[in-house]
Amino acid sequence: MAKSKVLVVGGTGYVGRRIVKASLAQGHITYVLQRAEIGLDIDKLQMLLSFKQQGARLIEGSFSDHQSLVNAVKQVDVVICTMSGVHFRSHNLLEQLKLVEAIKEAGNIKRFLPSEFGMDPARMGHALEPGRVTFDEKMIVRKAIEDAKIPFTYVSANCFAGYFVGNLSQIASLTPPKEKVCIYGDGNVKVVFMDEDDVATYTIKTIDDPRTLNKTLYLKPPENILSQRQIIDKWEKLKGKELDKFNLSAKDLLASLKGMDYAGQVGVGHFYHIFYEGCLTNFEIGEEGEEASELYPEVQYTRMDAYLKRYL
Ligand SMILES: NC(=O)c1ccc[n+]([C@@H]2O[C@H](COP(=O)([O-])OP(=O)(O)OC[C@H]3O[C@@H](n4cnc5c(N)ncnc54)[C@H](OP(=O)(O)O)[C@@H]3O)[C@@H](O)[C@H]2O)c1
Repeated sequence: MAKSKVLVVGGTGYVGRRIVKASLAQGHITYVLQRAEIGLDIDKLQMLLSFKQQGARLIEGSFSDHQSLVNAVKQVDVVICTMSGVHFRSHNLLEQLKLVEAIKEAGNIKRFLPSEFGMDPARMGHALEPGRVTFDEKMIVRKAIEDAKIPFTYVSANCFAGYFVGNLSQIASLTPPKEKVCIYGDGNVKVVFMDEDDVATYTIKTIDDPRTLNKTLYLKPPENILSQRQIIDKWEKLKGKELDKFNLSAKDLLASLKGMDYAGQVGVGHFYHIFYEGCLTNFEIGEEGEEASELYPEVQYTRMDAYLKRYL
């Protein structure tokens, strides 16, 4: 079977650039949307040009020009959208409704992967305000996709290591603490951590796979299901130094929301669900989903001690 042609929308983003790389690496003809709005953003342009040098095809378009999106979508079989969804960067998930309209009109798309790549929003109906906005908006996009009968796969990628492992899961930092580390609750709740490049590899693996058509692909490779304490332990072994530890109760974490800016509140709410409630591991995957490392055992996924070495 010929490999699907892929359009990446949001290709210069944190996730998007990895999706472009993985799509090319797995031999797909890969288009990347080049938005008119990037204007004078030289870094974005340079990144797009480097994609082109690596074999990608750039296609001009804009979210304010419906026909340009339709034209872009018509070039390919699969659309992967990596629209921004992290509040302290930028947050435009609902813009995807315009892309859904374009896909509906074009009528040729065999698979659409919207910007998900986190917790499964379908399991977050109870989430705290204001962090629930991420899940609510992802569910609005899902509804539009399903109402339009567009074939889909949702990728639930759990915790990106760059945001959750390098910092030993400390809020408001991206590097490991040097002396003191905050432990959420007893630190033993199981979480799932993923190297972002592996997220992209699994995402591309799934686009032509009939087993994940109209399903959620959960990225839960067994050796990356770890507690915060286990991550800290790995770091201490690598570093050869024990950190001072203090525990933060759920009550105190939630109390810290008061007076925090909006983006901070969204992030802290997500930490609560992940590290206290255990929302990434407190369910079994049912009929609606598949697990990536089971479907694609050939992928040598990155273990978190290997990931942590870059912070030494
Ligand atoms: N699981 C985790 O730990 C985790 C961590 C981070 C993110 N995520 C999820 O991953 C997804 C992508 O997040 P990200 O951090 O990669 O996003 P990002 O880098 O902040 O942004 C991705 C891209 O969105 C596009 N974009 C931004 N504003 C736009 C607008 N107004 N109109 C059209 N396009 C716009 C841009 O694409 P171009 O300029 O290239 O067109 C941008 O590069 C989100 O769904 C997020 O929730 C998950």
